[in-house]
Amino acid sequence: MRIFITGGAGYVGSHCARLLRESGHELCIYDNLSAGHRGAVEASELVVGDLADVKKLHQTMSDFGPEAVMHFAASTAVGESVKEPLLYYRNNVVNTVNLLEVMKSLEVKKLVFSSTCATYGVPPKMPITEDMPTHPLSPYGRTKLIMEQVYADCSRAWGLGFAALRYFNASGASFDVTIGEDHKPETHLIPIVLQVALGQREQVEIFGDDYPTPDGTCIRDYIHVEDLADAHQRALLTLTPGKQIIVNLGTGSGHSVKEVIDVTEKVTGKKINVKMGPRREGDTPSLYADPTNGQKVLGWQAKVTNLEDIIQTAWEWHREHPNGFAE
Ligand SMILES: NC(=O)c1ccc[n+]([C@@H]2O[C@H](COP(=O)([O-])OP(=O)(O)OC[C@H]3O[C@@H](n4cnc5c(N)ncnc54)[C@H](O)[C@@H]3O)[C@@H](O)[C@H]2O)c1
Repeated sequence: MRIFITGGAGYVGSHCARLLRESGHELCIYDNLSAGHRGAVEASELVVGDLADVKKLHQTMSDFGPEAVMHFAASTAVGESVKEPLLYYRNNVVNTVNLLEVMKSLEVKKLVFSSTCATYGVPPKMPITEDMPTHPLSPYGRTKLIMEQVYADCSRAWGLGFAALRYFNASGASFDVTIGEDHKPETHLIPIVLQVALGQREQVEIFGDDYPTPDGTCIRDYIHVEDLADAHQRALLTLTPGKQIIVNLGTGSGHSVKEVIDVTEKVTGKKINVKMGPRREGDTPSLYADPTNGQKVLGWQAKVTNLEDIIQTAWEWHREHPNGFAE
């Protein structure tokens, strides 16, 4: 298949692109490199461009002639979205509408989309199923939910087939340690704890230890990035024009912040300095997926389910690439 990938030079996108390339698909990666890295992709597949540049987007897509689009490009920091909501509505909503307009004009009717568990807000119970109410707590989560609703409208109006994949916490690195996570600034727990292990940070701050969880710290579902890539490939093969898929991508198990720190100490053999801080606004005590719908709809289930294995792959990447892609 010919697949157009927005944001394919970013963390999750580059791992998916690699799997698709290895499976024999032809790729065009469209990324403005605001957060992505040249070193994460094949140079011959990369077009440096912005989704806001509709003329370039249209030209690039029509030259390539894709059968499907995978849309990873977005602004992704929850905290920043609270301070700069318009930036998020412009990049995640307006620019995605640009993409849909070009897809419609070229009659491309398959879209795999990076959605998020942040669409749920505070779910009524755990684990989270896709039919639970969606009340996002941040502008970031709202932009993703809005786009899911826009896709459903486009599906009814002109036959767009879409898969909204609601990831939980993407983590880990490629098994061969050639690509991994490199966000600047880093906001995700596992890479931050590993930066402490590497001596690049003095400590990790825990935002609250008085939550109603067994050790008082927040619980999240860490899903390996290679498992995410596998789910994307399956979604692509499952999609047909007009089809609507919404699937949680998680392991089904939750791990607390303290557990992540303890396991990191075990994996790295290093002491992790911790600073206790107050709760952070907008954090939900516990979020973990019920992944059974992914099995039913995509025939998918996470293979890397052990937190130690997830952190091990991340550790190998960060140890071998302490400065990330270092461009
Ligand atoms: N990482 C996670 O834990 C997680 C969890 C849930 C959902 N998601 C979603 O998955 C997707 C990928 O996340 P990630 O962690 O790989 O993020 P990332 O920042 O590493 O990747 C996003 C990529 O999009 C590119 N980009 C951003 N705006 C663009 C624009 N206007 N035009 C062209 N390119 C643009 C960036 O340069 C970057 O390469 C995002 O949509 C994110 O919201 C991520």
